[in-house]
Amino acid sequence: MDDLKQKYLSAIADASDEGALEELRLQAVGKKGEVSLKMRELGKMTPEERQTAGPALNALKDEINSALAAKKVALEDAALDARLREEWLDVTLPVRPQRQGSIHPVSQVWEECTTIFGDMGFAVAEGPQVETTWYNFDALNIPDHHPARAEMDTFYMHRAEGDDRPQNVLRTHTSPVQIRSMQAQGAPIRTISPGRVYRADYDQTHTPMFHQVEGLAIDRDISMANLKWVLEEFFSAYFGTKVKTRFRASHFPFTEPSAEVDIQCSWENGTVKVGEGDGWLEVLGSGMVHPHVLKAGGVDPAAWQGFAFGMGIDRIAMLKYGIPDLRAFFDSDLRWLRHYGFASLQVPTLRGGI
Ligand code: DAH
Repeated sequence: MDDLKQKYLSAIADASDEGALEELRLQAVGKKGEVSLKMRELGKMTPEERQTAGPALNALKDEINSALAAKKVALEDAALDARLREEWLDVTLPVRPQRQGSIHPVSQVWEECTTIFGDMGFAVAEGPQVETTWYNFDALNIPDHHPARAEMDTFYMHRAEGDDRPQNVLRTHTSPVQIRSMQAQGAPIRTISPGRVYRADYDQTHTPMFHQVEGLAIDRDISMANLKWVLEEFFSAYFGTKVKTRFRASHFPFTEPSAEVDIQCSWENGTVKVGEGDGWLEVLGSGMVHPHVLKAGGVDPAAWQGFAFGMGIDRIAMLKYGIPDLRAFFDSDLRWLRHYGFASLQVPTLRGGI
């Protein structure tokens, strides 16, 4: 019995995994194991022999079983330790640097415009970038052969040969959205329409695609005075300082009267500062919506009147953020974007500084 005990206890101690342990369990105390066979021999013994051999065998069986259980626990602990060692990670390691994207100045200024005009009660209305010639020209009181059509450097969409429907265009301004908004909502109306526009032009101050924001306010008794207030309110909020405007008589087919609007600025060492000095900078076209335009939008010019304006988003972005070259806006150069872009948490300022 001592030999058996010796044999199994040391084999159990040496077992390297649970499979080997199970093997030993079967060999020792399984149904046909050595200890079990010995127990079966008890029947052949004299009662005296049995009295000592019985308890001794039981004790041996217990001892082996508890050695097996203890070894099993030890093996499991060791396996867990090994796994923990393998899956260990150093939480004090600094994170790997990761490049973050940034908000493009156009998106930022677009947001700033919708926020400021939104605060004044203007809703955003959008229209398609591929537009019919009716919306882009005719409805805006620019008939065929009107010089304004030729001046706009329009991109015409291709039409298959024999297709004699009027050619669609890439909209040359956001003004067609005026017509669409009037048709969709009728009067009264207060909308702004930011969006992309297209003209075949390319130099330091022109790109074939750029951005405008259109404004439209129609009601019973809206006047140029309301226009001036809204624009001064907008520019003051946008630039974060009180900004004066100057209206110069001008001509647009879709407004009567029409005005080009300048904002007050100073020029020092080639840099522009808005809201001070005695210089003026042209920033937008505007006027009272022409009766023909109201009619095209399904609004009765005898009952309603209002103002409209159109302004370059890229241009006011350059002015506010000191960006010198328009073309760089659309080069997708990451170095430029990292320099002029905005962090995603830099939300538009509203009435900053005033
Ligand atoms: N659509 C004009 C342009 O792109 C800008 C403009 C001028 C818009 C006067 C207007 C306006 O709404 O009233 O040059």
